[in-house]
Amino acid sequence: MCGIVGYIGKREAYPIIMNGLKRLEYRGYDSAGIALYDGTGIQLAKTKGKVSDLEARVEAEIKTDGKLGIGHTRWATHGVPNDINSHPHYSNSGNLVIIHNGIIENYASIKKELENRGYKFKSDTDTEVLVNLIEEVQKVENVKLGKAVQIALNQVVGAYAIALFDRNKPDEIVVAKLGSPLAIGIGEDEFFVASDASPFIEFTNNAIYLEDEEMAIIRLGREVKVRKIKGDMLVDPYIQELQLNLEQIEKGGYDHFMLKEIFEQPSVIKDTYRGRLLADQGIVKLGGLEDHIGKFINANRIIIVACGTSWHAGLVAEYIFEDLTRIPVEVEYASEFRYRNPIISEKDVVIAISQSGETADTLAAIKLAKQHGAFVYGVCNVVGSTISRETHSGTYTHAGPEIGVASTKAFTTQVTVLTMMALRIAKEKGTISQRDFMLHLRELEQIPAHVEEALKSDDKIMEIAEVFKNAKNFLYLGRGYNFPVALEGALKLKEISYIHAEGYPAAEMKHGPIALIDEQMPVVVIAVNSNHYEKVVSNIEEIRARQGVIIAVVTEGDTTVKQLADYIMEVPKTPETLSPLVTTIPLQLLSYHIAVMLGRNVDQPRNLAKSVTVE
Ligand code: F6R
Repeated sequence: MCGIVGYIGKREAYPIIMNGLKRLEYRGYDSAGIALYDGTGIQLAKTKGKVSDLEARVEAEIKTDGKLGIGHTRWATHGVPNDINSHPHYSNSGNLVIIHNGIIENYASIKKELENRGYKFKSDTDTEVLVNLIEEVQKVENVKLGKAVQIALNQVVGAYAIALFDRNKPDEIVVAKLGSPLAIGIGEDEFFVASDASPFIEFTNNAIYLEDEEMAIIRLGREVKVRKIKGDMLVDPYIQELQLNLEQIEKGGYDHFMLKEIFEQPSVIKDTYRGRLLADQGIVKLGGLEDHIGKFINANRIIIVACGTSWHAGLVAEYIFEDLTRIPVEVEYASEFRYRNPIISEKDVVIAISQSGETADTLAAIKLAKQHGAFVYGVCNVVGSTISRETHSGTYTHAGPEIGVASTKAFTTQVTVLTMMALRIAKEKGTISQRDFMLHLRELEQIPAHVEEALKSDDKIMEIAEVFKNAKNFLYLGRGYNFPVALEGALKLKEISYIHAEGYPAAEMKHGPIALIDEQMPVVVIAVNSNHYEKVVSNIEEIRARQGVIIAVVTEGDTTVKQLADYIMEVPKTPETLSPLVTTIPLQLLSYHIAVMLGRNVDQPRNLAKSVTVE
């Protein structure tokens, strides 16, 4: 939530910060702001709205030639999105300027204390409280900025990634992190600060990712000094060489990142299994799993924790793991799990799934599981993310940056990793026959080609979208492996088109939702070849009998459902275990086209942000 970016060096900071904010806008987009410093005066502009609104305001209002700057794109937590609550925030003296991603939970008591000491506040934000607390520490303790930040942060409870500078120190930016990501790009005589590396990737490949409870003093002409916020210990920072390139974070000719990411799926699924799945040789191996496979085999049960789309991938994994490995699986919303005093033992294995690797609830669930002695395995996309570091071991999905707020390729690559895990464990445990094992490896290798094929229906799906774009409600039904796909299809539609949609296990329909069915209710049914095919056909008959309109996802060559459904979306034949990897594709496209036709902001749907680093 919220994107932060900073620069100090020899170039004009403005274009770097503005470009950086555009790249980070997926993290929050209800307001934006920038502060630039040329060593004499601070120029600050901020506004409710998008980064493009900020750009217009900056160009009309402020000088832009400072070589130090910080910028922010916000997803509001404290205080409604308006100009005043936007970041950056000044301290009362006007000397300190701060940007912040996160929440200071005890801000109200600190604010009261500062008000008693004469501080005045313009905004409703916790951030303005923090910058004034730092100023007060500077004054009372008579210490330098870095020390004041450290003392102040020891008094706050919450989560933060902050960057700030002091008018009296034109060559310095101070940053700190707890719970929200923060990367420092290291160039020649210049430094960059950002929530992820995308704002500075064209300038440097070298970055330090701060760990939780670390802060850094970034001073021109010096090495970055990293220290622990608690205990003051200096840290030797690890400078990571980034693998990211500019092309990966641009739209590459597509109208939206979401569409680009949908169409990238054949190649990123290949990237996910590259070097890990060698079907000809009958090998599937995952670096992070090999040394810990015994933990899975001897586990009492597997608990999967995740949120949103990642939770849906977890639900698919429940079917695959139980089917292939015969290990009991429970799938938990991380936000519920962390607060309900769950029973966890050392014999449990927890799998945490997260695209961003930063989701606060998932992170808290991991910490809880670790406290109870469980072994925790991560399935993350973002390399070096907090969750990937907090887990005992794990596998990256290698999907590349996912910028569209609605997850697409993250889901299919997560399911690919989880499928490979289940196959590897089942093989080791002896719960899968050699024949079935080989069949799955070969079929998994074919998935990119099948996804490619499914994507060819794009034009047809666009026509279906045209018919249903004005529907007020949608129902999504699936059974078995495709029940989670129904949930995921409904979530995709809701979040980007704002049409109400619900996913249900098809057989549950008659226990309530069937009452909703009439000629106004489009029902998307996943009815591919599977063990439940006949039963799904019966469900379709039940809907038809009540004048429901049926859009069915069917296996190529299907004849039965074709006759019953009003519209069909075909996907290639796969084993049922792998079918979610292809059945989800037409549902992603359907949501995308409906949202575009309704004029929605597909990549930045209202009220949402890409990584949810607050609870
Ligand atoms: C939906 C979506 C969200 C995320 C959820 C978890 O399209 O993007 O539901 O799946 O916020 O995020 P990660 O996977 O980053 O933990």
